[in-house]
Amino acid sequence: MGDHRITVLPGDGTGREVALEAQRILDTIQANTNHGFDQTVIPCGGQHYISTGEEWAPGSFEFCRDETDAIFLGAIGQPGARLPNGDLAGGSVILGLRSGLDLYANVRPIKLYEGVPHKIHGGFRQIWEPGMVDMTILRENTEGLYHALLRRSADRAQGRPEYEPEPMTFPGLEGEVAYDPRPISRAGSQRLIEMGFDVAATRNGAPSDGQRRVSCIDKSNVTRGCQLFRKTFESIAEKHPNTEADYGYIDAFMQWLTRSPEHYDVVVTSNMFGDISTDLGAVLQGGMGMAASGNIGDQHAFFEPVHGSAPKHAGLNKVNPIASINSIQMMMDYLGRKNGEDELIEIARLIDDSVADHLREGKLVTYDIGGSASCSDVGTAIADRLAHKLSERF
Ligand code: IPM
Ligand code: MN
Repeated sequence: MGDHRITVLPGDGTGREVALEAQRILDTIQANTNHGFDQTVIPCGGQHYISTGEEWAPGSFEFCRDETDAIFLGAIGQPGARLPNGDLAGGSVILGLRSGLDLYANVRPIKLYEGVPHKIHGGFRQIWEPGMVDMTILRENTEGLYHALLRRSADRAQGRPEYEPEPMTFPGLEGEVAYDPRPISRAGSQRLIEMGFDVAATRNGAPSDGQRRVSCIDKSNVTRGCQLFRKTFESIAEKHPNTEADYGYIDAFMQWLTRSPEHYDVVVTSNMFGDISTDLGAVLQGGMGMAASGNIGDQHAFFEPVHGSAPKHAGLNKVNPIASINSIQMMMDYLGRKNGEDELIEIARLIDDSVADHLREGKLVTYDIGGSASCSDVGTAIADRLAHKLSERF
């Protein structure tokens, strides 16, 4: 019996392969420390829907809510797997958990490790020094453009009638019209932005100047929701005089993120803007195979690689497991801070050191960052490094 209850949702495509590497890291921690994990694996996702007619077994949402300390999710998304209402099959899992567990912050660190080529120009030419890309983007995760879909998914996950927004009319538009309301609330913005300032306090500032900085990225020159988001940001920033408050519109941010990533320390933004900008951010850190994330609320959290199911690579044991390994790193840091267990925070740091050492040496890496090693070989090699560090320390 372990002392932390971890639910693993492998999901679709390559999610199933990287989930095994995430579990290998949990097993390694368990074998080399006093921290144990009760792991429960729940089959789910679009492929599961196609073969069984359900996104996951009844009671799975409740298990994640009531009998789980932290969740690892591989990936959701199977081409062609759609529910009768047209929504993504597997949405109950990824979107249902985000909304149903009130995981309001999607925390996405973007860091370029030494030895890893970024993907600008699609090539392997090094433009940024590794230390120049080290930021965390916090994407609002429960409202904005995703709001209706999130609510529907959470309702479905809990067996409730599915939410539909009130019909709206649009003067001047005729014929068939599809639309997604984009509600942004002060309370929803506030809790995300406050977490942004909290995250900044745990970091070392922006690479360019060491200044603690939180950047509010919006489109407040155009949308009312963004105006409220920015107003909320200003009132929170006032309470943090030692952290620089920085502002940008999403369109300009796309330029600056690419041109001067070293300026950014912590970024807070709304749901869809965060979805889009973190894929660009992944390019700066060596691609989607390097991008880890945590979906975090006050009571619950799940951790997932950002890359998705990558169906064309599925079953080939070739994708990069580092996004998943670093998602377990985030999970350990989360559990450590939540429960006041400093050892788990230290374990998170040792995972980071193991990944950094492995990449610096650069001998065994997957195709996406210039090698030809398999997913499981990279996962095993990093787990071995971690085992060594843990056994020295614990
Ligand atoms: C992500 C993904 C999801 C999203 C999809 C799979 C629904 O792109 O986690 O970024 O749009 O949020
Ligand atoms: Mn995305």
